[in-house]
Amino acid sequence: MGAVLHLETPCLRLPKARALVMLGPPGAGKGTQSRAVAGEFRIPDISTGEMLREAVREKTALGLEVKSVMEAGGLVPDELVSGMVEERTLRPDCARGFILDGFPRNLEQALFLDRMLQKQERDGALVVNIIADTDALLRRLTGREICPVCGSIYNVYLRPPQKPGFCDKDGAPLTRRNDDSQEVIRKRLKEYEAQTRPMLDHYREMALLHDVDGSQEPSAVTANIFRLVEG
Ligand code: AP5
Repeated sequence: MGAVLHLETPCLRLPKARALVMLGPPGAGKGTQSRAVAGEFRIPDISTGEMLREAVREKTALGLEVKSVMEAGGLVPDELVSGMVEERTLRPDCARGFILDGFPRNLEQALFLDRMLQKQERDGALVVNIIADTDALLRRLTGREICPVCGSIYNVYLRPPQKPGFCDKDGAPLTRRNDDSQEVIRKRLKEYEAQTRPMLDHYREMALLHDVDGSQEPSAVTANIFRLVEG
């Protein structure tokens, strides 16, 4: 029950003003873990996917530009995402550190992040790589449901809400992501293999990469991430 002990520890602190980078293929559990860890450390959880989806929903200039790429499961141009991340991490709530969920996605973005952290005089990054096999990823993505109000993430097969189709926390009807169709999931997994997996070597060479077994229960995965941060 290490997970419970960790979750009950009050006021955990991310050592110094570091960035915690959450990596892993689509469906590995980056969003689920980022939310859990951010809540405990009381630092912002910055999801580039969520920021981009919001821009699409709001029909901003950025949203209109990236909509078709996202619907097709491709990666949004580096300069758009990198600029968005830099702007967000300069806000005062990031002073004590932040979590990046979904960034970087390729070597160019990783090099941008290195420079950005130096410029912001941060104490470097801790990079968590969540690992899960392809069958698990498919089941997780095809069964995912999200609360549009509080952002809670459920899964009809693996983490169902108490009342099917409705959020446990606020009772809102749950929604599905447009890119969670079989066809787009395949494209997203391909993009991961082509662009993101090769980027892991960058962090491996810098001895910053920490693999975490994502096949366990979410609370056990969270406990392992806490151990890494505390270590
Ligand atoms: P993004 O939103 O980042 O999507 P993704 O990387 O495809 O990852 P997901 O959000 O699908 O999965 P996740 O790992 O967060 O899993 P989750 O916790 O939800 O990006 C979307 C798009 O935006 C991209 O395709 C691209 O177009 C664009 N984009 C974003 N960032 C970009 C960038 N940097 N550069 C360029 N383009 C970018 O969990 C999934 C399911 O599994 C849930 O149902 C959950 O309940 C369940 N689950 C989670 N953990 C467990 C567990 N341990 N056991 C059982 N079930 C679990």
